[in-house]
Amino acid sequence: MNLVSRPELLVTTAQTNTETLEPKARAYAAELNAEFVERQERPIPALFAGRKDDCRLMIVQSERILLLDREGNEFFYHPNMAYPRLRNLLRGQRDLLIEAGRLEKGDSVLDATLGFASEAALCAHIVGDTGEVHGIEAVPEIGLMAREGLKTLTTESVELNAALRRIRVVHLGDHLEYLRSCPDRRYDVVCFDPFFEQEPGGSEQFGALRHFGDHAPLTLDAVKEAQRVARRRVLIKTLRWSSLLEEMGVMERLTTRSGIVMYGVLPPL
Ligand SMILES: C[S@@+](CC[C@H](N)C(=O)[O-])C[C@H]1O[C@@H](n2cnc3c(N)ncnc32)[C@H](O)[C@@H]1O
Repeated sequence: MNLVSRPELLVTTAQTNTETLEPKARAYAAELNAEFVERQERPIPALFAGRKDDCRLMIVQSERILLLDREGNEFFYHPNMAYPRLRNLLRGQRDLLIEAGRLEKGDSVLDATLGFASEAALCAHIVGDTGEVHGIEAVPEIGLMAREGLKTLTTESVELNAALRRIRVVHLGDHLEYLRSCPDRRYDVVCFDPFFEQEPGGSEQFGALRHFGDHAPLTLDAVKEAQRVARRRVLIKTLRWSSLLEEMGVMERLTTRSGIVMYGVLPPL
């Protein structure tokens, strides 16, 4: 996949262990079509010096990859809500995503707005080894960080670790591009979880994803393509009071009595 050139994205290494990390950082920079800059023991502000205001810096460290901007906002990969939601599932509680998708072992799922892949991880747990969960992330550096984190991050939950390893990031870019390249009925379920217009609270980690993520609204074109690509259903997650589901022609909705989040369900075309 050839990504467009990213003059506003720099990739470097941590100050320690630089020699070991440099080949990896160079490979990520090449993949992201970004500039690799040698760290040369420079402090972070020196790396931003003379660069544009919207410049982002990816630092490849031994344990993780960090994304920073000039204002000091930080993002790193973390499975976010996957852990508590999976714990609740394992205790036998319901999860609206799983119910809305009618997900079962062996299913194939496309998460078209991957982010932290926390919802993808829930799907991956349910579909198991015989199923598949693919993810697409519009912001290439976030998608790459998720891809690498999904391979290596180890939590205290054996089930979550297994689920994370099953997710494959298949596209660093817009979901519409990828959906257009898919044959009809390629996945059982396609899921969309675009950013809500207003975020009701949320963790510090989620705030970081909101800061660095893509806020473009979900389009009817993407939803129609997803309906072509889905064998069973297309899911759209939104806030209960949002007009998005109406705009997308959704008739079936799933929520809890007091829940603020809602999953809209669309049939295949
Ligand atoms: C609300 S977050 C999704 C969170 C995710 N469901 C999770 O479990 O972590 C939305 C994500 O979708 C990404 N995104 C937005 N528009 C997109 C598009 N057109 N194609 C692919 N990804 C997109 C954003 O960059 C962001 O990472």
